Amino acid sequence: MSTIAITGSASGIGAATRDLLESDSVNVIGVDLHNAEIEVDLSIESERSRAISEILRLSDGVLDGLVTSAGVSVPFDPARMLTINWFGTVDLLIGLREALSTSSGVAHVVAISSNSTTITPNVPDALVEACLRLDESTSHEILREMDDVEAMAIAYAASKLSVARFVRQNAPTQDWAGSNIRLNSIAPGAVLTPLLQGGLDDPTFGAAIEALPIPVGGFAEPELIAEWIRMMLSPSADFMCGSVLFLDGGSDALIRPNDWPVSMQLE
Ligand code: NAI
Repeated sequence: MSTIAITGSASGIGAATRDLLESDSVNVIGVDLHNAEIEVDLSIESERSRAISEILRLSDGVLDGLVTSAGVSVPFDPARMLTINWFGTVDLLIGLREALSTSSGVAHVVAISSNSTTITPNVPDALVEACLRLDESTSHEILREMDDVEAMAIAYAASKLSVARFVRQNAPTQDWAGSNIRLNSIAPGAVLTPLLQGGLDDPTFGAAIEALPIPVGGFAEPELIAEWIRMMLSPSADFMCGSVLFLDGGSDALIRPNDWPVSMQLE
């Protein structure tokens, strides 16, 4: 029986993934604030360490897969949002890499990013760079220079950009692909979960979320995203490495039709 850890397993995309994997007889180790095998607050560094050590204990140090789905969105305190979404992801990716490398087969990781990475304007490079060098205090300082509404939108997009860049930068390396771990990401668009509903109900952000065009019409259900995660955790994804899969009903394609691929300019 394979063992897969899921953060954010109590709700939305994480819970739908949990249900699917359990129907496949996977041993799921859930991590969440409540209603999970491991109840932790990923905004706190010591709790992230506890999540890692508890996952290692419950899996006997051997993991076949990991899904990082825990997250929050607008409206939420910007610095805390950045910490949950980014540090709550990257600390677990780094802390569980070795356990993934000891899987008897190919291990698979799906890190949840977002289509906000490409459709949110003016995310400062300095913020994403601070995240990628794991400099939490600088990342919070940069957010404190913005007004609160801007900081919330930017914190969300920056946290998800950092997830996508971490995947791109690390997936092909010896530590990941070379250690039999497939590291990939999904960038969902609007998925009808409590997280999205919180944004829709907000007087500041609700109208902006509703205004984002979705060419296929309507929001996705979390079960649909979970189906793709299941595939990306399976041997069908053994040749998938460093991909960021957009599942967003066409919003990203509509907004930037010519930005793909980015051609390398050789001297
Ligand atoms: P959700 O709100 O249904 O589930 C998120 C889970 O994360 C909840 O169970 C929550 O308790 C947990 N969580 C939040 N803060 C935590 C903390 N400090 N410590 C531990 N667990 C914590 O949300 P949903 O929609 O399923 O989101 C899953 C992921 O998908 C998130 O990373 C989100 O950013 C991402 N996403 C969601 C989209 C959407 O429209 N729903 C769109 C793009 C990305």
